[in-house]
Amino acid sequence: MTKRILSGVQPSGKIHIGNYFGAIKQHIEMQDGNECFYMIANLHSLTTVRDKEKLNQLTLDLALDYLAFGLDPKKCTFFMQSEVPQHAECTWILSTICSMGLLERAHAWKDAQEKGKKETTVGLFTYPVLMASDILLYEPDLVPVGKDQKQHIEITRDVAQKFNSTYCETFKLPEPHIPEEVAVVPGTDGQKMSKSYGNTINVFAEEPEIKKAIMGIQTASTPLEEPMETEGCNVLALYKLMATKEEVEALKEKYRTGGFGYGNAKKTLLEKFHEYFGEFREKRIELEKNMDYVYKVLEEGNEKARAQANSVMDRVKAHTGLKIR
Ligand code: TYM
Repeated sequence: MTKRILSGVQPSGKIHIGNYFGAIKQHIEMQDGNECFYMIANLHSLTTVRDKEKLNQLTLDLALDYLAFGLDPKKCTFFMQSEVPQHAECTWILSTICSMGLLERAHAWKDAQEKGKKETTVGLFTYPVLMASDILLYEPDLVPVGKDQKQHIEITRDVAQKFNSTYCETFKLPEPHIPEEVAVVPGTDGQKMSKSYGNTINVFAEEPEIKKAIMGIQTASTPLEEPMETEGCNVLALYKLMATKEEVEALKEKYRTGGFGYGNAKKTLLEKFHEYFGEFREKRIELEKNMDYVYKVLEEGNEKARAQANSVMDRVKAHTGLKIR
């Protein structure tokens, strides 16, 4: 049965394989047979990126990345969050019913405060309300994301329920779509892959950077001649994402036999990386030569997204008393 799908990615850094396997791969696969909306969440990026040129570039990069991965604008609506003013409008309305406590419990907010790394702005605090608007305006059944976004979808459901019970049935409650095997893609140090941990493998980086990232993956220090542990190995965990079952089994066998070493395991992963992502990387280079096409795709997507968001906003305004006739 056709489902309505909505998701987004922030243009706040280079796309890494955690973003791809954890979310974008599902976005591309779901285009067939579903009604999909995918957004460049550039309003969210303002909480971390404060340079005009940089935000412009990251936005275009993300558009190119998505198209290179196979996003087909004929099959889905691909748009920029900032070009649909209803997101910001809906955020205000939702913020008037969303309790402080709900947002104070958000992991991202608690982390930012504890680490004292990020400046704790009002925008960072209300980030989940903007995300709730992003989702609710499109009435999706499913929101395909990685596990780190699960709480944001729970908050979205809570806010929607609060609105529906305060006024009347207005918003549809979305479900997260998080395939277990890619819920948390590990980084080169074994923690969750994340640009804020500096442990990423960036899909469209130059070859030397990719090689450096892969050859720098942290492993055990088993001597070369001895068998290597297959459980909990970061190299194998990443290889599994790109290789067939038989290839994974063959590599595991080499681990068990010994005399193979982590250097060779990493080289095998590097080769697999290029085999898997090579086509996307080439397509991206081609797309870059035709930026007019990219602008056009986004302009058409923005228009379609505005029409959808507007229809829900009309309902919201009517149900809250903001509309008088
Ligand atoms: P963002 O831009 O940080 O990440 C984009 C997507 O990549 C997933 N992801 C991962 N999945 C598995 N393993 C990892 N190591 C990993 N790292 C990142 C994220 O879970 C996400 O699905 N707030 C969102 C963007 C957003 C959004 C939305 C998403 C804004 N509005 C509405 C869905 C619906 C974010 O910052 O994701």
